[in-house]
Amino acid sequence: MDRKRKHLIRLGAGVAAGLGAAAIAWAGVAANAEEPADPKGDFEAQIIGGGDVVDGQYPWLVGLGSPGEGTPYERQFCGGSVIAEDVVLTAAHCVEDVTDPEELVVFSGAIDLESEDVVETSVAAVHVAEDYNDPIAMSNDWALLKLDEALDVEPIALATEPEEYDLLETAGWGDTGEGFPTTAQWVEVPFVSDADCEAAYPDEVDAQTMLCAGDLENGGVDSCQGDSGGPIMTPAGDEQVLVGIVSWGYGCAEPNQPGVYGEVADFNDAIDEVIAGWE
Ligand code: ARG
Repeated sequence: MDRKRKHLIRLGAGVAAGLGAAAIAWAGVAANAEEPADPKGDFEAQIIGGGDVVDGQYPWLVGLGSPGEGTPYERQFCGGSVIAEDVVLTAAHCVEDVTDPEELVVFSGAIDLESEDVVETSVAAVHVAEDYNDPIAMSNDWALLKLDEALDVEPIALATEPEEYDLLETAGWGDTGEGFPTTAQWVEVPFVSDADCEAAYPDEVDAQTMLCAGDLENGGVDSCQGDSGGPIMTPAGDEQVLVGIVSWGYGCAEPNQPGVYGEVADFNDAIDEVIAGWE
């Protein structure tokens, strides 16, 4: 049952599966509602458990959407991070079914996807990690988008060494538990060690290419459906460093079911190579 649910969540995140994703997210929330009440009584609420991103907090945070009619809010289905003026890093599972870069647009420049300030940029090329889903499902869940135009956005630096992080924060326009917000949400999530993550998801964690975060004991804080491809970051002085990419989880914000993220430090060199090939 759990296995099936994870699979559905993954498929639901695909391009042109907007409705499916919403239905699946709803199913996830409904499932949460049947769980015994959280001891702290604060399980409901918002990402999950977070608050509004403020202007300038994460300038590199972008939405991924489909081109066409409707507001950016109505067309957004994943997140991403600007890592060079015309390059966005996202999750492989967000774009694996894209056969033509024209099926994608990137939303930047505003945290509110209903705002008139949103800049919509078309995509020139998509590179899905060659080893995506290898050695196990969801391994190497990263992809790069080359944009048609440079963005007027400060890029985020990539982590270079895997670490036992302390404080992590994640952000996006995904499900809050009460629907999909127009303004991006962010939340702090505790780091989860590889050993604890492997214990939570036996045989499903590739510690080399995945890292995990969440409150194992209480749940309540997590990324969720629609946040995929977006960043999980750690503060380094005044800056933020991109340590991971929202990838998967069983449900959202449930105790002992942490969020799983692509481990950026592990793909850092491969990312540089792809970008060098585009220059
Ligand atoms: N696969 C989801 C997406 O496509 C992200 C799920 C993250 N889940 C979690 N519990 N952190 O949006």
